[in-house]
Amino acid sequence: MERTFAMIKPEGVSRGLIGEIIMRIERKGYQIVALQMLSLTSEMASEHYAEHVGKPFFTRIVEHISSNPVVAMILEGPDVVSEFRKMMGATNPINALTGTIRGDFANDMSLNIIHGSDSVESATREIKLFFK
Ligand code: TYD
Ligand code: MG
Repeated sequence: MERTFAMIKPEGVSRGLIGEIIMRIERKGYQIVALQMLSLTSEMASEHYAEHVGKPFFTRIVEHISSNPVVAMILEGPDVVSEFRKMMGATNPINALTGTIRGDFANDMSLNIIHGSDSVESATREIKLFFK
């Protein structure tokens, strides 16, 4: 069994998509091991996006993710890290297939609704950051 870290971003929360996203996770059969609604400090947001330090979009994504509440979750299931990435769709919603969360609900890369860990190592790091 594998675990991943998933987060409904501020635009997902404010657009009323918490239920829709959780429904997809539950229907797929993943266990929601932990769930918390919280507001990120900019320190926590910077740590979460540490791999992107120095990139042109870093400041913007840190400000955005800490601007309003998010829903953080630990999901468990077989190959859930890569399988949940498939359920999310491509980073740029323009390239995300219909049927994916980003493909169905987003049209702007900076408002792409959902975060999911990109590897087992990232999942371990992100879970530690959010669920101490
Ligand atoms: P990244 O980790 O590359 O994507 P993903 O969320 O699919 O793992 O980037 C983190 C977030 O940063 C991404 O969800 C949206 C934003 N972002 C931009 O705004 N512009 C960009 O060019 C990239 C690559 C990402
Ligand atoms: Mg990423």
